[in-house]
Amino acid sequence: MQKIITEGSTLLKIYEKSFENVSKKTASVFFNPVMKLNRDITVAVVRSLEDVRFLDLLAATGVKGLRVAREARAEEVALNDINSEAVKLIKENAELNTLDVEVYNSEANLLLNEIKDRFNFIDIDPFGTPVPFIDNAIRRVSNKGVVGITATDTAPLCGVYPKVTIRRYLAMSLRGELCKETGLRILLGYIARTAAKYDRAISPLLCHSTGHYFRCFLKVVRGAKKADISIKNLGYLYFCTKCRNFEVEKSMFPVKRECCSREMSIAGPLWLGKLKEQDFVEIALRNSHDLSSEAKKLLEIIVQEEEIPFYYDIHSLGSIMNIGNLPKIDYIIEQAKKKGYHATRTHILPTAIKTDLPEKEISDILRSYR
Ligand SMILES: C[S@@+](CC[C@H](N)C(=O)[O-])C[C@H]1O[C@@H](n2cnc3c(N)ncnc32)[C@H](O)[C@@H]1O
Ligand SMILES: [Zn+2]
Repeated sequence: MQKIITEGSTLLKIYEKSFENVSKKTASVFFNPVMKLNRDITVAVVRSLEDVRFLDLLAATGVKGLRVAREARAEEVALNDINSEAVKLIKENAELNTLDVEVYNSEANLLLNEIKDRFNFIDIDPFGTPVPFIDNAIRRVSNKGVVGITATDTAPLCGVYPKVTIRRYLAMSLRGELCKETGLRILLGYIARTAAKYDRAISPLLCHSTGHYFRCFLKVVRGAKKADISIKNLGYLYFCTKCRNFEVEKSMFPVKRECCSREMSIAGPLWLGKLKEQDFVEIALRNSHDLSSEAKKLLEIIVQEEEIPFYYDIHSLGSIMNIGNLPKIDYIIEQAKKKGYHATRTHILPTAIKTDLPEKEISDILRSYR
């Protein structure tokens, strides 16, 4: 059974129960309504770029590519899926919205090998890990083009299955309150290393960690020297599981570090460079005016977010200090700023702050509030 829904201003024919109650792998054509936010942000991002030639590589119902064609007015949009049922639905959905798009029914990597430099935006939205598609997307996107990558394998990236993270990303993950940003930076570190193999550099325009997935929009620039500079952003996170203190350092190899008379946990290699281009995110926020309030809120918080790697989770600090009555996040931010430090909220964890204020001084703020 099929039904017609509207997402953004795009009409969409989908199979009923294409997500709910049906395993994603057995649904005839996959559609997850929760990913609307992911698609809203993509529309805002494409609106903020010029002359976009967009390839929706793993399109399913076609919702993302069709929304980009209709709501972001990309110059050219092509959609692809290996599933012939999906391809049929994509064509019907294009017609429903009177959109002139190209539709392919190929295996993603085969298609990428055929398209040469045609697209300056390649979107990868797989079931689980994007790893099988990253090499070819990086090689095939045109110079200074953008790759949009979704990863829903958050369990391995966030330390639940460390062996999977090592096999898939050749990186050590971490559990605890820093796991989300660690997972996002492991993914980016992996993409930076993959790009470097092909003499390409990545430069993040906008990255977010939302619910069960990570999403990043990265500019890919060709040039061996640029690739050398890009991978200088790789390094490691050192984390003390006792006092929750952490340190980061850009380096090729990790070293042993101690805190509270014990060895600190190590995560990485990670991307320790920027997670956004500030001007770009501000433009994307302006271009989200007619999108969901959720999308606007996410972009608003990212716009104000400091580019300081990692954060202090106030609940974790309160718990190890045995403080029940914790001040509000905004109060702590205000106190940190009064002391002359940078401090902001982070979209990654609502109970955390990004700040260059030393952990000891944050603990003092919590203690004096008690
Ligand atoms: C998570 S869905 C895409 C969801 C879609 N972008 C959206 O926003 O609703 C992944 C899609 O990739 C397709 N797919 C999986 N492996 C593929 C491959 N190797 N080549 C092409 N398509 C593939 C599946 O058929 C499925 O429709
Ligand atoms: Zn410690």
